[in-house]
Amino acid sequence: MKAEENPYVPKSATVVAVKNESLETKTLRIRLYNWKAEFQPGQFVQLLLPGVGEAPFCIASSPSDQKHMDLTIIRRGLVTIASHYMRPGDVVGIRGPFGRPFPVSRIVGKDLLIVGTGIGIAALRSLILFLVEHREDYGELNLLYGARFPEDLVYRDEMKYWAEKMNLKVTLSKASPEWGGLRGRVTDHLDGVVKGKGQVAILCGSPLVMRSISGELLERGLKADQIFVSLERHMKCGIGKCARCLIPGGWHVCKDGPVFSLDEISLEAIGD
Ligand SMILES: Cc1cc2nc3c(=O)[nH]c(=O)nc-3n(C[C@H](O)[C@H](O)[C@H](O)COP(=O)(O)OP(=O)(O)OC[C@H]3O[C@@H](n4cnc5c(N)ncnc54)[C@H](O)[C@@H]3O)c2cc1C
Ligand code: FES
Repeated sequence: MKAEENPYVPKSATVVAVKNESLETKTLRIRLYNWKAEFQPGQFVQLLLPGVGEAPFCIASSPSDQKHMDLTIIRRGLVTIASHYMRPGDVVGIRGPFGRPFPVSRIVGKDLLIVGTGIGIAALRSLILFLVEHREDYGELNLLYGARFPEDLVYRDEMKYWAEKMNLKVTLSKASPEWGGLRGRVTDHLDGVVKGKGQVAILCGSPLVMRSISGELLERGLKADQIFVSLERHMKCGIGKCARCLIPGGWHVCKDGPVFSLDEISLEAIGD
């Protein structure tokens, strides 16, 4: 097997920009050397930082730009903290893109409800940018984004533009008195955005929130095959070989997911 075909061998890329999104979150824009990123919204890559380690991140940029990838990364541990010290010109390794994406062609013409909480919005940004670029192919678009504090919100500068293309609701569960927007959890703001039959829901966020929204959507008439969740699990190989990411039902999140519809997995498999 040639090195460039070996999924364990990372391809080179260079950091070209670093954007501070919030106190804990940065977006790295990386440029790919001599290879194109052919991916679809919802897929992820393994980011390798030389001398530090490797971790999976959803591709947060539009699939129409095949020369760059944006990765929005919240500080957690070894790799994520080291990624926040990256500067333009630093070289990184990329394995992937991996995983099953959001079903963007299967849902053409549908009304969509997209719900993201916390860093889950990073996985949805690629989808949001794709939908904005193909706006006429889809029905009513509702985007519900929840965070805790105002300073946790990411992509603030883009949201005005998103709001021109879709119905955007941003809610904070721990809003400061100055906050003039919606308050509470995303589940408090489903009225008016859940249309029931025919609508497709796409969720990404903490497992507890995804479980609770999924339950609510099922009660409000959406069918299990109309609800898609993007799961996160600890990963090693990223290609279905090590069994690190197995979930109930025998699915590998890296290969069979990270996007699953709820007729494929149980609510329990979303985790907590
Ligand atoms: C498919 C996929 C897509 C992801 N996309 C993004 C993204 O777009 N942006 C982003 O910021 N993060 C994303 N993550 C999570 C990210 O991969 C982890 O935060 C990262 O692996 C932590 O690595 P670390 O070396 O910094 O932390 P470590 O030093 O490995 O661990 C720090 C802490 O985080 C916990 N942890 C590590 N990995 C995970 C995980 N996957 N799930 C839950 N807890 C974990 C550890 O148990 C430990 O408590 C994604 C994960 C997956 C599986
Ligand atoms: S990460 Fe190895 S099987 Fe999924």
